[in-house]
Amino acid sequence: MWKIVEETFNPEKQHHKETVFTIGNGYLSTRGAFEERFPAEMRATFLHGVFDDAPVVFTELANAPDWLELDIFLAGEHFRLNQGTLLSFTRTLDLRTATLTRDLRWRSPRGRETHLVFERFASLAEEHLCMVKATIRPENYSGRVEVRAGLSGEVDNLKLKHWDWVAQGVRAQEAWLQVKTCATKIELSAAMKLSMTVPGQRSHLTRLDVQNHPALAVSSNIKSGETATVLKWFTQYTSRDVKNPLKDSRRALQKYLLQDWAQLWEAHRKAWESEWERSDVIIEGDDEAQLAVRFNIFQLLIAAPRHDEHVNIGAKTLSGYGYRGHAFWDTEIFMLPFFIHTRPEIARNLLSYRWHNLPGAREKAKANGFLGAQYPWESAGTGEEVTPTWVPNPADRTSLIRIWTGDIEVHISADISYAIWKYWQSTGDESFLLERGAEVILETARFWSSRAEWNEELGRYEINDIIGPDEYHDHVDNNVYTNALACWNLKTALDLYSWLKEEHSSAWKKLNRRIRFNEKELEKWRHVIEHLYIPFDSQTKLVEQFEGYFQRRDVNLAKLEPRTNSVQALFGIEGANETQVLKQPDVLMLMYLLPDLYDHETLLVNYAYYNARTDHTFGSSLGPSIQAIMACKANDEGAYVHFIRAARADLFNVRNNAGDGIHGASAGGLWQAVIFGFAGLEHTSAGWMTHPHLPEGWTRIAFKIVDHGKELHFDVKKAF
Ligand code: BGC
Repeated sequence: MWKIVEETFNPEKQHHKETVFTIGNGYLSTRGAFEERFPAEMRATFLHGVFDDAPVVFTELANAPDWLELDIFLAGEHFRLNQGTLLSFTRTLDLRTATLTRDLRWRSPRGRETHLVFERFASLAEEHLCMVKATIRPENYSGRVEVRAGLSGEVDNLKLKHWDWVAQGVRAQEAWLQVKTCATKIELSAAMKLSMTVPGQRSHLTRLDVQNHPALAVSSNIKSGETATVLKWFTQYTSRDVKNPLKDSRRALQKYLLQDWAQLWEAHRKAWESEWERSDVIIEGDDEAQLAVRFNIFQLLIAAPRHDEHVNIGAKTLSGYGYRGHAFWDTEIFMLPFFIHTRPEIARNLLSYRWHNLPGAREKAKANGFLGAQYPWESAGTGEEVTPTWVPNPADRTSLIRIWTGDIEVHISADISYAIWKYWQSTGDESFLLERGAEVILETARFWSSRAEWNEELGRYEINDIIGPDEYHDHVDNNVYTNALACWNLKTALDLYSWLKEEHSSAWKKLNRRIRFNEKELEKWRHVIEHLYIPFDSQTKLVEQFEGYFQRRDVNLAKLEPRTNSVQALFGIEGANETQVLKQPDVLMLMYLLPDLYDHETLLVNYAYYNARTDHTFGSSLGPSIQAIMACKANDEGAYVHFIRAARADLFNVRNNAGDGIHGASAGGLWQAVIFGFAGLEHTSAGWMTHPHLPEGWTRIAFKIVDHGKELHFDVKKAF
């Protein structure tokens, strides 16, 4: 159960499949477009941190120069799948080795039949190296086979150009290209070599020095039944990585040229072997679940920055244009647990990104009249707020919709602190906490202490006019998720402060030089903690998602079935806002993150209430995986239905938007659903324990986690 296989090519599913067949290595990802191109494709390669300015969305990952292209001429006929006849087709993504293979037989318009096999990988062992190979076998003809391949700077982001040409060269067997992003001036340099081998034949090389598209062509005469093997080595560096990207990419190319495909692939394979060694989850008794869980883990792993602590993972990873590479709370709350527990070094990089971006968060707080650090809802290269303010209305494409999340979806500041705390608890990484994490927790606490408003009449603090995680309701007061997490952030900061002062006075002094903490602030913190309003009805045990939620119109969701669209699309933004229907259930999310706040009965009551009012199918893709966990906790048989909805999000394109890229939060949530839901992993005073809720048919879940540097193995089996 390691292979994602496609057996027919359907151009209508092209964009979805490009996403599914994305490969990557934590430095870059390349969508699964064809080497030879196809009309209306969305081929793209995204590199972490390579952002450039863009209208409306402020900044976006710039689609990098194309390294993948291979133009193939078979006895003079141009190979392309929109012409001729496809006699057979199989595309396979081997998750275990992160290698994409396409095996096909094609009959040209003139009747020439050829067997072609394409393979590609982005090396996990050497992150600046990518390789593509094609084997070409004429089946019923002999003739000249030519392959042209280059580095194309003629790329854009859905028509927006991000690269200025700087220089290029074609020398001996090498081509190179140097470009720069138009506004952010990030230099990218790439180099490549092309070779063709036909046993017993000499191949011929031509240099094609076309402006912004340096290329090489290799050709050879081939007899029917013989095979030509074409290899393309590709290296690249940017000015984010090194001082002289051109020199480094050309030097790296020379180094890798000393090795052939088999050697380079073997190093890559080994790197993946050790990756899976740490992060695989074995599920027995449900092949679909097994494959889907591995696929989603794979997506997290190919998006994970291993050597860069100045980047985060976008909501759509590096696999598509959706959300333009911007990062949300999706990373800290949904993806990070996987990294914390299997690859803590990667979690550290991701959290360090937030620490490096504290200046942007401080700016945002200050601009809004608050203290401390207010993290942006959408974050990219610099840590400034990059949520678009207005976007075209998808319903009519002419009017504009005001997006309020960047202004008032504030819970992300507490989410980041929460993730730092979880990382610390699981790793005991004291240097991280002392040098970086503590500063974020204290600065976000400061933000909350100033963001909470004192209501004189009711004698309580409130956090008003915000959006909670459930985005069907905006401009609400006292969203319980936000208030409870803010309170948690303040309490944690208070404890942390005492601990730092008492036990790490020199680290505290160093930190205090940066944050200039005034002891008087503590009084305010305590006051807010004691008086922050957290809605709860002790009679019914219901937690009201926000003030006035229960007065909104109740809708029987079952009566809307069958439907193919979200409740928001059916009722309109304002219409959905007036109902109790949720995009995702904030109260249950809160109970998941802070389980000690509520007893089991409260969980059951609220699970029943909110589960019935959530737009599970078309609401937030972040919802189903966590809902599966909460269903396990509530002993609800629906757990598997929620789980499989998340498992299929991208593989089956259930929301019809997988073409925009992988749903990274759903991928991370899926891992959590298996580990914390079905296996029921919990940290107790006696250590880690499992309380399994295996779905029907599942006979085993086996996985590892790392706790304080120690690897722990879990093997949960169904008792018969
Ligand atoms: C969800 C947010 C999420 C964002 C990016 C929105 O549709 O409501 O919770 O952070 O997508 O995935």
